[in-house]
Amino acid sequence: MAKRPTTVGIGQKITTEMPWLDGVAKVMEEAFAPLLGQDAPREPRDFLYGVWLGHSLHAAVVTAPIGAWSAAALFDLLGEEDAADLLVGAGLLGAAGATITGAAQWQDATNDDAPRRVGALHALLNYSVTGLMAGSWLMRRQGRRQAGIALSALGMGVTLASAWLGGELAYGLGIGVDHAAFETPPTKWTDVAALDELADGKPKRVEADGVPVLLLRQGDAIRAIGATCTHLGGPLDEGKIAGEAVTCPWHGSVFCLTNGALIHGPATAPVAAYQVRVADGRVAIRANAEEPGGTIPVGGGQGTGASASGS
Ligand code: FES
Repeated sequence: MAKRPTTVGIGQKITTEMPWLDGVAKVMEEAFAPLLGQDAPREPRDFLYGVWLGHSLHAAVVTAPIGAWSAAALFDLLGEEDAADLLVGAGLLGAAGATITGAAQWQDATNDDAPRRVGALHALLNYSVTGLMAGSWLMRRQGRRQAGIALSALGMGVTLASAWLGGELAYGLGIGVDHAAFETPPTKWTDVAALDELADGKPKRVEADGVPVLLLRQGDAIRAIGATCTHLGGPLDEGKIAGEAVTCPWHGSVFCLTNGALIHGPATAPVAAYQVRVADGRVAIRANAEEPGGTIPVGGGQGTGASASGS
């Protein structure tokens, strides 16, 4: 597997100077494995990744606890006790959703030290925040208002530190972003291979204007989709082919070979789809603007490849 870039600054310190976080990561991985492990049912995992949304679900869900607790702090300042207490409790519900979606996103990104350790610390801080906010909620209900406010204020401080780490994971380490986002598939017909270079059923990696493409001859048809897995950049041309689908060799995302659609996560974005033309023994491709991909059920794709006979 290609070496991923390390984070910088505080993130780099966490990666290199806090190896004890591997122990935390191991406990987390084992705890979440029944729901999020590679052998767990696909549908719940796909929901938690955000396959249906086309983006990381965690990024959307975290706004619930952060928004509720920020508003609670404001209402505390204004002396609106009922509203503040309600929002502290509502934030706890949102924190449950943020925890499970965050774990889903992290669970498949732990092959490297940086995301494993930064993610473990991010989770530890979030668990601490949840404990502080739960304590605040209980104290508020018991009438110990000042202590409750102090705990939630402390929780907000830890939330900000943890949110910074979340940003480091997304923007420093690329966890949750589309790893094919900066590839520009050519829209003009581009020669990529000789037809006789394509062995039946064996994927071949080619480049079209610098963009990696998976070419696959299946009997009389030729498929062409982006070769960069949108999850973390895995090489789809090294993936397992089963019918009209390819499974990424790194963390098991599944894409449709006929239109690039995402079938299963942890990726949340499709790969590029290409039209294929065969003429004079040469294979040419161009981005398939008519069918750019999407999320489909297994076996639901429509063919967009060419006939290997050259028609
Ligand atoms: S890189 Fe993770 S599933 Fe492809």
